[in-house]
Amino acid sequence: MLSRCWILLWVLVPAFTRAEISSDRVYRKGYGQRLGAVPQAVGGEDYPDEGEIIPSFAEPVQNITVPRGRDAKIACIIDNLGDYRPAWIKEKDKAILTMHQQIISRNYRISLSTSDNRVFTLHIRNVQESDRGGYMCQINTSPVKSSTGYLDVLVPPDILAEQSSSDVVVREGANVSLVCKARGYPTPSISWRREDGEPIPLGGYKQPTNNKLHTLVHSYTGETLNIARVSRIHMGAYLCIANNNVPSPVSRRIMLHVHFSPVIWIPQQLVGVAPRHNVSLDCHSEAYPLSTIHWSKEGTRLSGEGSQAFKYHIESKRTSSYKIRSILTIRDMQSTDYGFYKCVSENILGFTESSAQIYEVSPARSSSTQESMVEDDEDDHDPTYGMGTPEKSYSDGKYFTEEVLRPKELTNKASGALSSISNAVITLPCVLVALLNIS
Ligand SMILES: *[C@@H]1O[C@H](CO)[C@@H](O)[C@H](O)[C@H]1NC(C)=O
Ligand SMILES: *[C@@H]1O[C@H](CO)[C@@H](O)[C@H](O)[C@H]1NC(C)=O
Ligand SMILES: *[C@@H]1O[C@H](CO)[C@@H](O)[C@H](O)[C@H]1NC(C)=O
Repeated sequence: MLSRCWILLWVLVPAFTRAEISSDRVYRKGYGQRLGAVPQAVGGEDYPDEGEIIPSFAEPVQNITVPRGRDAKIACIIDNLGDYRPAWIKEKDKAILTMHQQIISRNYRISLSTSDNRVFTLHIRNVQESDRGGYMCQINTSPVKSSTGYLDVLVPPDILAEQSSSDVVVREGANVSLVCKARGYPTPSISWRREDGEPIPLGGYKQPTNNKLHTLVHSYTGETLNIARVSRIHMGAYLCIANNNVPSPVSRRIMLHVHFSPVIWIPQQLVGVAPRHNVSLDCHSEAYPLSTIHWSKEGTRLSGEGSQAFKYHIESKRTSSYKIRSILTIRDMQSTDYGFYKCVSENILGFTESSAQIYEVSPARSSSTQESMVEDDEDDHDPTYGMGTPEKSYSDGKYFTEEVLRPKELTNKASGALSSISNAVITLPCVLVALLNIS
């Protein structure tokens, strides 16, 4: 009886050219044939005879999780199969993949191994995301018996370049959103950090009242990193990292360029020096794009070249992506060399200037002044350390206060400094001071 039914089915299947046919249409049709072939009047034929051994699953079909690209194996283990025939059916589209020993699916990645007419193992090579879902092992008992295992396909994270930020150029004070989108399975989480490992001040650099500090984070989680009122301290390379614990995490590097017009700072604006001595003036500027610095005296630009080569020596160097430092050395001071020197910093967004006065002191006074003014001068020292009032700077003292960065404020400071040299020496932290060469 059973075998007759299956012969009918085998006739049917090739007739459908072994396409991935709906199990409802074909598999059930098999039973339909069987029912149709047996007159209801006979009775009992649809149900196993008394004493007939009914097949049963030795264990439920297991769930498996496989990274995309690997091979998957799902086993169906059946006891007492007898003449019954199990089929593998893909739950999602009801496609019959295999029937007994036969592969029905046209998917070349699907294969089957069997052993002892008991274990029917479905093999899926090079697993794709479309393979995700339930796989049902069904036995053509009446009613049918089935057990379903789920195949989960893991996909490593991938950052979607078209939907993510590229390098960003903004004016200082603007609000910035950096976006990173990624796909993968499970859904990757996105985290942000600065490439240099510095914390990210999310609230901009304006100091809030009540001495509260900004939210400083070393990493931030989310697709969008919002920075309100962006400042120069935000400038740099940011990394968004997509991770879903499927090897391996991926990252994208986004440069944030913050444009701002130059600000300038001359640490020592009053310098006393004796005739015939050499003296140096130090000028610091912050600007992005990086500024150019030049020096002038009474409207005449100093080049430090040609006929000026002995008198003036100018050395400018970049100390960070937006900081530049210039040192003007005036050699062998003569009476005409005393007076005001101007340092001018300029970029495409504007220019600013500041000046310093060199006044004459007696040789004796000069040496004592030199002692109080010449301090350890570390070239790499961040000049801005000394620029802010400490209680207004960030907790680690590393960031500027807005106040300090405003040219107007600097000018006020300068006039304050000019009012009293001793005051200037005490209040201006002599991180970088005029360099006096004593010989
Ligand atoms: C397989 O996962 C489903 C849920 O997706 C669960 O109901 C079933 O019990 C799991 N089967 C096994 C054998 O763990
Ligand atoms: C920038 O963000 C701040 C705080 O979220 C908001 O108050 C301000 O209006 C925003 N500015 C602009 C130009 O969108
Ligand atoms: C001034 O600098 C020049 C060149 O560096 C040096 O030769 C000279 O000795 C210095 N003079 C004094 C008084 O330090």
